[in-house]
Amino acid sequence: VLSAAERAAVRALWTKLGSNVGVYATEALERTFLAFPTTKTYFPHLDLTPGSAQVKAHGQKVADALTRAVAHLDDLPTALWALSDLHVRQLRVDPVNFKLLGHCLLVTLARHYPGDFSPAMHASLEKFLSHVISTLASSYG
Ligand code: HEM
Repeated sequence: VLSAAERAAVRALWTKLGSNVGVYATEALERTFLAFPTTKTYFPHLDLTPGSAQVKAHGQKVADALTRAVAHLDDLPTALWALSDLHVRQLRVDPVNFKLLGHCLLVTLARHYPGDFSPAMHASLEKFLSHVISTLASSYG
C-alpha cells in the first residue's frame, strides 16, 4: 500500500506529465518490444515498427488506464478489474510481461524527468507500478 507521501509523489508527477502520458506510454511500449522481443508475440496483429500509428494508439490506451489507476489509488481492483480479466482470461498474458513493461515505463519516466527522479520518487513509482501489476495479475487467482 502506498503511503500518503508516495501517493502525493505519483499524483504530482502525473499532473506534470499532463497530456503527454500517451507519448511516454508509447515510448515505454517501443522500449519493451526492443529490449524484450518475446513481448511482441502478443501483438501479431499490430504493426510494431518504431513510430507505428498502431503502437501509438495502443500507447494511448495504456496511458489512459494508468491515469485511471492514479485517480483510483484507493481502489485499484474496482478501477482495473475489467482490464485484469481481459489480460488474464482473454489475452492470456504471462504475468512476467507486466514487469517488463513496468520496468520500461520507469526507464522512460527517468529519462524524461531526471530532475524529478529522486530516490523517493523512484520508490513511489515502483510501488505504484507493482500495485497496478499485481491488480492486473489478480485474475490468475
Ligand atoms: C490491450 C493496458 C500490459 C498485451 C490493452 C488495453 C489496455 C491495456 C488499456 C486496451 C483494452 C481495450 O481495448 O479494452 C495495459 C496496462 C498494462 C498492460 C495498463 C501494464 C501496466 C500488457 C502486457 C502485454 C499486454 C505486458 C503483453 C506483453 C495486450 C494486448 C492487448 C492489450 C495483446 C490487445 C491489443 C489489441 O488487440 O488492440 N492493454 N496493458 N498488455 N494488452 Fe495490455
